[in-house]
Amino acid sequence: MATRQLHILLLFDLSKKISPDEYPELLKTEGWKDDAQLVNSLKRLGHKVRLFGLYDEIEPLMKELTENRPDMVFNLSEAAHNDRRFEPHIVALLELLGIKYTGAGPDALMISKDKGLSKKILAYHRVPVPKFVIASRSKPPRNLKRFQYPAFVKPLKLEASEGISQVSLASNEKDALERMRYIHEKLEADVIIEEFIDGRELYVGILGNERLTAFPPRELFFKEVPEGEPKFATYRAKWDDNYRERWGIDTGPAGRIPEELEEKIVETCKNAYRALGLKGYGRVDLRVKPNGEIYVIEVNPNPAIAKDDDFMMAAAKMGLDYDAVVARILNLA
Ligand SMILES: Nc1ncnc2c1ncn2[C@@H]1O[C@H](COP(=O)(O)OP(=O)(O)O)[C@@H](O)[C@H]1O
Ligand SMILES: [Mg+2]
Repeated sequence: MATRQLHILLLFDLSKKISPDEYPELLKTEGWKDDAQLVNSLKRLGHKVRLFGLYDEIEPLMKELTENRPDMVFNLSEAAHNDRRFEPHIVALLELLGIKYTGAGPDALMISKDKGLSKKILAYHRVPVPKFVIASRSKPPRNLKRFQYPAFVKPLKLEASEGISQVSLASNEKDALERMRYIHEKLEADVIIEEFIDGRELYVGILGNERLTAFPPRELFFKEVPEGEPKFATYRAKWDDNYRERWGIDTGPAGRIPEELEEKIVETCKNAYRALGLKGYGRVDLRVKPNGEIYVIEVNPNPAIAKDDDFMMAAAKMGLDYDAVVARILNLA
């Protein structure tokens, strides 16, 4: 593989305005460890790295891109103006400027963010997804009588389990509508109501553009949650360390999966990745019922790639170390 030295701009988000002089200090903090790991890796790979934190001003980014035109942007940005709706716009800008970037393009970012639109496309491509109803604020359903319960009620376009709690699982129409209204009003967000898939939760990392490499599945475990209790990744289950510890919630290499089923899972995930037009790297989240039925829950372009994130842990299990994955992501761009 060619390893020409590249001038790389590492683009990331800021939730408030911070001067570039402060980046070195920022990168030393826990919340920025993935960025710091990446900077070090890019340097180890022999590249030149500049950093740019994007908050609410696009002009300084334009200035950086034109005055210090990089060979490539390593894109860790997920928002502009502190708003995730603008995630696709940032790479759209790079496209207009003819600057190469890592990961997914604007179309895949836009489609994947919408848990309804993406499921419509997946269903067209025969990728199995839960049954669903979209409940927008402008046109909320008056009843959900014919929906199959239990249902799972979640924001249509949010991420990181925002808006997902124990009451997201609704055992009847009344509870589903109540949760829908809560999300409409309190989070000011549209809603998707899905068939609740009771089963194992798996994450499959994928690397590639046309030819895809799937990593061995990771699994979300709930070791201390009693048998028979519903298990899913609420906001607390993702972000509250005490809560995670109490209920034994953690990811790890997937437990035993029959060979035939694993092949089917990998095929399904690759189909999902292709159907939504992902590039570079992605992670497909799915659930598998005890009878072996597979359901894609979510396709994540540009997933988290810190060393201890599922994507990198799964790559490591395949013998691809961190730098090797970073190099592959650059090559794919
Ligand atoms: N249809 C469903 N059936 C069962 N669990 C679900 C369903 N949809 C979401 N979940 C649970 O909620 C979590 C978050 O949902 P997801 O759609 O991945 O949103 P986010 O973008 O917030 O990660 C999932 O990891 C899973 O545990
Ligand atoms: Mg998810």
